[in-house]
Amino acid sequence: MTETALNSLQSSEAKLLLGTYDRYPLLFTRGEGVHLIDENGRRYLDLLSGIGVNALGYAHPAIEQAIAEQSRKLIHISNLYYHPGQAALALKLTEATGMDRAFFCNSGTEANEAALKLARASARFRREEGAHLGTKFLALENSFHGRTMGSVAATWKDKYREPFDPVMPGVEFVRFNDVDDLRAKFSTEVCAILIEAIQGEGGINPLSHEFLQTARDLTRSTGALLIADEIQSGMGRTGKWCAYQHYGIQPDVTTLAKPLAGGIPLGALLSTEEAAQAIHAGMHGTTFGGGPLACAVALAVFETIERGHLLDHVTAIGTYFREKLTQLAKTHSSITDVRGLGLMLAIELDSADLTKTVLAEMMKRHILINRTSETVLRFLPPYILEKEHVDQGVSALDEVLTEQLAHTAATPLPGGKKIGH
Ligand SMILES: Cc1ncc(COP(=O)(O)O)c(C=O)c1O
Repeated sequence: MTETALNSLQSSEAKLLLGTYDRYPLLFTRGEGVHLIDENGRRYLDLLSGIGVNALGYAHPAIEQAIAEQSRKLIHISNLYYHPGQAALALKLTEATGMDRAFFCNSGTEANEAALKLARASARFRREEGAHLGTKFLALENSFHGRTMGSVAATWKDKYREPFDPVMPGVEFVRFNDVDDLRAKFSTEVCAILIEAIQGEGGINPLSHEFLQTARDLTRSTGALLIADEIQSGMGRTGKWCAYQHYGIQPDVTTLAKPLAGGIPLGALLSTEEAAQAIHAGMHGTTFGGGPLACAVALAVFETIERGHLLDHVTAIGTYFREKLTQLAKTHSSITDVRGLGLMLAIELDSADLTKTVLAEMMKRHILINRTSETVLRFLPPYILEKEHVDQGVSALDEVLTEQLAHTAATPLPGGKKIGH
C-alpha cells in the first residue's frame, strides 16, 4: 500500500499524541463557506461546523480581516494592562444577553469553571452577610459542562468523571425536566443550579418552561445562582443570542464559548451586577483570556451576525430544516423524534447501530453530521447555511435511510425468514 498523507499522519499521531481522540479517517486542508475540503480536493458539506464553532463557516472575510488587522497591531499583552477589546466586547455581549459584567477566558469548560467559582464566592459573600447558603451544586441528568475537574463534576455521564475520581465533590444530579425532583433536591445548601436551556451533548433536549421557571424561583428564594450554560446553544445558534431568551427567564450567570470568536479560542462568563459583587482583584484570572486577537475577532463575528441579520436567518433556515426533517420522519419510521430550535437540531433513530451506519454513509456522501447520546444525529451547521444545503443534507439522509431499510429487509433472520415487506 502506498503511504498517503493521511496514513502517515495516522501513524505519527498514534505514536506521538495522548490517545484522547478516535478521529475519522479524513484529512482536511481548507474550508470555504459551508464546505470543508480534503487533501484530494473533495468538498464536504459541513452540517456540524467544528461542533458548533464555525458559525460564519470557513474563510469568512470578516474573520480573515479581523485576524490580519489585529495581528499586525497586538496579539497578546496579558491581563496586567488595558487593551480596547475587552470592554467593547463586554458591552456588546452584556447588552445582547441582559447581563451586566463579563469575564473572558479561553474555552467552554473554563467559562463554566469560572461560573462554579463565582457561585461559591457569591454564597460565601452572602454567608458573611448572615445568610445561610451552602456550597452544593445541582446539575441535570444528561448534562455536559466540560472536562476540567469542576465542570466534569457537573457533567452527567460516569465515563467522563469516574476515571478521574475524586472530581469536585458536592454535585447532585436532578432528573431532566422533573420539577418534583428539583424541588426535593433544592435547599439552602445549594449555591447554584446549573442548566443548559437546550442540552447539546445530551441529545438536543429542550428544558420545559415549567422546569426553568421553577429553577429560577427556587434560586431567587434563597440567593443561590441560576447558571445557564449557553456554550453550545448561545451566540445565536437557536435564533436568539441565548436559548434562555426563548423562555423569557433571565439567569444570574451565563457562559459562552464555541462560536464566540469564530474559531479562535475564547470563552466568556457573563453575570449580573449583584452576583459579580463577590469577586475582587486577584481571586480569579487567566494569562490568555480575553486577549486582543480573540476580542477583535469576536467583535467582528458579533457585528457580522448583527449586520447580516443572521439571527433572523438562523430562525428561518432552522424552521425550514426542521420542517424537512419532520417530513422525513413521516416516511421513515426509524426516525422516532425530531427536536431542537434554530440551527441546533437533531433526529433520534430507533437503534444505535443504525445511527452509526447513517453517520458513516453520510460521510461517504461527503456530508458531515454527528452522533451523540447513542441514537441521536445532531446538526449544528454554520449560520450561513442556505436551503440548497438543507435539501442536499435531507435528501442524502432519505437515500441512506431507504437503503438501510432495504438492507434490513433483505437480511435473513435466523431460520431463513426475511423481515420487512
Ligand atoms: C454545553 C457545553 N458546555 C461546555 C462545553 C465545554 O466546552 P469546551 O470544549 O470549549 O471546554 C461544551 C462542549 O461541547 C458544551 O457543549
